[in-house]
Amino acid sequence: MSARFCGTGSCVPDYVMDNDGVAELVETSDSWIRERTGIARRHIAVKETTVSMANEAAKRALDNAGVLPEELDLILMSTISSDVIIPCGACEVQKAIGADKAVCFDLNGACTGFVLAYNTALAYIESGIYQTVLIVGSESLSRLTNWKDRGTCILFGDGAGAAVIKKDERASYIPAAHSDGTRGEALLCHSKREENGLPLQKNDENGGKHLNSEDYLMQMDGQGVFRFAIKQVPEVIQEVLKKNGVKPEEIDWYILHQANRRILEAVAKRMGEPVEKFPMNMEEYGNTSSASIPILLDEMNRDGRLKRGQKIVLAGFGAGLTWGATIIEW
Ligand code: ACO
Repeated sequence: MSARFCGTGSCVPDYVMDNDGVAELVETSDSWIRERTGIARRHIAVKETTVSMANEAAKRALDNAGVLPEELDLILMSTISSDVIIPCGACEVQKAIGADKAVCFDLNGACTGFVLAYNTALAYIESGIYQTVLIVGSESLSRLTNWKDRGTCILFGDGAGAAVIKKDERASYIPAAHSDGTRGEALLCHSKREENGLPLQKNDENGGKHLNSEDYLMQMDGQGVFRFAIKQVPEVIQEVLKKNGVKPEEIDWYILHQANRRILEAVAKRMGEPVEKFPMNMEEYGNTSSASIPILLDEMNRDGRLKRGQKIVLAGFGAGLTWGATIIEW
């Protein structure tokens, strides 16, 4: 028993900030950012929210799959940038699309989140508990970003991607995933208010509804994360291939979390696989954490690059630290 992707959708904010726009906020340049990261632009949520983008991506995925909301047994949303703590984003999506019978919960696996959400959905499907699942990755990282820190603010962007997966009779692939909580400090986003002992209440222009970057700030050991990614990602991909008796040359696409062009190029090189098998779109969106894999899947699905029967590796890595890879057959 396995799970088949039967539809995808995505949604990104209208407002686009290019690298020159970032250079107006911190001392940096378009050429520095492009060269070190491959990023040229990012979409920033101004009128959109994590939930509004998730809703739109979910509707597009259902439409693309030809699945009705009432057919969904489970909605899993991966996010580190919820608009509110409760209710969870998945419940908000349920409300927006009218998926009355779905069980809904959120999952925080940072940039590995979409892969972990897929693994969770797969486990539910294989156990026979659920048959039709909507997975969403949605992020408004611009609200968590420290726009005074040029080491991090150049990297992140906002957006959402979603996929509908259904029970399938083919044999499934066993995923590989790891976590190392002892290295969590490499990538942190903590509450300044808690640190300062301030009372947890504030009336912002959203009526206190949205977290914002005055409260939560991203901190990162850039070089540490870079070294972690280029070591662990090829290893976990090799692990998942070995576990399932699949050779690298049998893989049509390696769809990795879109953190940084240099990381993906280094992974391809270490694996001895052509970089053309590692599609990238961070130039347009930056790093959208758990939304990056489903946004790319949606682009490739809609432009015809993904074809039925192709074998694809999905791999994520990020805060926690967490990392994982899984094989899917399109
Ligand atoms: N513009 C110009 N100069 C900069 C910038 C910037 N935006 N940022 C740093 N610099 C300077 C530094 O101050 C330093 O100057 P110095 O030599 O005079 O001290 C110099 O550039 C080199 O700084 P490094 O931090 O060593 O730069 P590095 O080459 O490591 O690039 C980067 C930084 C792009 C963040 C890199 O470390 C990286 O890509 N790391 C991985 C980050 C990542 O992908 N994180 C997300 C993955 S997990 C997830 O998605 C949540």
